[in-house]
Amino acid sequence: MSKIITVTSGKGGTGKSTVCAGLGYALEKQGNHVLILELDLGFRCMDIFFGIEDMVKHDLSSVLSGRYTVEETVVSVPGAEKLSIICSPDNPFINVNSLKLKKLLTELKEKYEFIIIDTGAGLLKCVLDIADMIDILLTAATPDKISIRDAAKASDKFYEKGCINQRLVINKANSDYLNLGLVKSFDEVIDNTGIQLIGVIPDDKMLAKAFGKGSKLSKNSVSFNAFDAIARRIKGQYVPLTV
Ligand SMILES: Nc1ncnc2c1ncn2[C@@H]1O[C@H](COP(=O)(O)OP(=O)(O)OP(=O)(O)O)[C@@H](O)[C@H]1O
Ligand SMILES: [Mg+2]
Repeated sequence: MSKIITVTSGKGGTGKSTVCAGLGYALEKQGNHVLILELDLGFRCMDIFFGIEDMVKHDLSSVLSGRYTVEETVVSVPGAEKLSIICSPDNPFINVNSLKLKKLLTELKEKYEFIIIDTGAGLLKCVLDIADMIDILLTAATPDKISIRDAAKASDKFYEKGCINQRLVINKANSDYLNLGLVKSFDEVIDNTGIQLIGVIPDDKMLAKAFGKGSKLSKNSVSFNAFDAIARRIKGQYVPLTV
């Protein structure tokens, strides 16, 4: 059964795109066919994260308009053959038709085991319109009060639209946040967002460097196992949580 995973946050810069890329690589490494659909209109980053800038000829708008097929639009990630990307349109003012988007998702579900949707900061109407098609909503929050409040707000909006299967990813988890007294513990993030935890990704400079340079995350990086564990939990496997 194909699954649509959407990553949201409310606040910008909490690591939505990083979570999408890390999870995409992890699922692919576990043998799954994965498509990352970038829905951050006008602000693509997956081309840089995956080092495919020169390979992107078409984007989401090409396929939604019917000018190009899915096969003509997707880019396969070099070195991760089962992982493909559809990049965001360059135009930030493009109007995405929700019905066409739903139709596209239905088609993609026939072709991929996992469709990971990267969203932008805030809430886009077309993203909320597909809420009832989302199998699992991941909310990426950093351990600070603004991120927590915005994560709760975004999560509520998706819930109201019928997306009830939701999980929390605490990102850039770093004891500095606790030392600064911004939050007392990571439990506070879980309690105040009201979302069940699925994984914790450490603050990891190697991760920021790898994706910033368009390369894979090294097995030696501290976040590698965190993504592997989240991917397994999404598939219903038991992997103990350590916070
Ligand atoms: N776990 C992490 N450790 C270290 N740096 C991280 C981590 N997660 C994300 N970053 C860095 O934080 C910055 C923002 O990450 P990212 O672009 O994934 O956030 P975003 O939520 O997608 O942002 P936007 O709202 O603009 O789409 C990037 O420079 C990224 O490399
Ligand atoms: Mg992003």
